[in-house]
Amino acid sequence: MSDLNLILLGPPGSGKGTQGERLTEDFDLPYFATGDILRAAVRDSTEIGLEAKRYMDGGNLVPDQVIVEVVAEALDDEATADGFILDGFPRTLGQADALDAELKRLDRALTAVILIDASDEEVHRRLGGRRTCRKNGHIFHVTFDPPKNAGVCDVCGAELYVRDDDKPETITNRLKVYHDQTEPLVGRYRELGLLKRVEGSLPPDQVGDRIRALLATLRMEEEL
Ligand code: AP5
Ligand code: MG
Repeated sequence: MSDLNLILLGPPGSGKGTQGERLTEDFDLPYFATGDILRAAVRDSTEIGLEAKRYMDGGNLVPDQVIVEVVAEALDDEATADGFILDGFPRTLGQADALDAELKRLDRALTAVILIDASDEEVHRRLGGRRTCRKNGHIFHVTFDPPKNAGVCDVCGAELYVRDDDKPETITNRLKVYHDQTEPLVGRYRELGLLKRVEGSLPPDQVGDRIRALLATLRMEEEL
């Protein structure tokens, strides 16, 4: 079987992180979520983190060159031999060009770009209630996926926190940035025959089942 090189694309709050965690467990592949990587850099006050923070707090994208280097380094690693899952990258046409160039250099190709779609209204509902575990990053929602005890992670008992960019005005800007700068990637990957759209407004298990089904179909086609 060939390597499984996946991109998770979609508006903020559509469920990329939720499904990314499931896919990582199913396929045992390295998972690179650029938002998580940047938040860790902010927490550790690294040079990249200090630069990224002012963009992230306003819901804007960090400059392409900052994130492209981070992803290129992550992909150029033996751990990705069987494939990888990218969540939140690429997010601009420039980043998509840089990814193409890096994959070409590594003699690799994308398997599929999974678009998890959701309306702006649904995004506001979801991000307003998101809670994330400080320790393991597991994602909850106060209504749609509540933890057993409020504010505490079911998995490890650590504290749950609200992301700095989940304020209503920042969510509105993140959506605008998505529509302006990231949505053009949908057409690009559709033309390349790589785009697989999944309805993200369904419950998480159903979204997960649909993604698994489309990946199984891709595998079958590969074997024919
Ligand atoms: P990032 O962390 O990537 O944020 P995002 O793309 O805005 O996406 P989110 O993480 O907010 O949402 P998600 O789709 O993962 O949804 P989740 O599963 O959590 O990026 C943050 C910032 O970093 C950017 O704004 C930018 O500044 C910077 N950045 C990152 N990458 C960059 C790049 N490549 N270039 C430049 N800058 C970059 O789910 C959300 C909520 O909904 C949760 O509460 C969850 O429990 C719930 N939920 C999930 N699925 C369902 C469902 N099916 N039904 C009901 N509820 C659900
Ligand atoms: Mg996420």
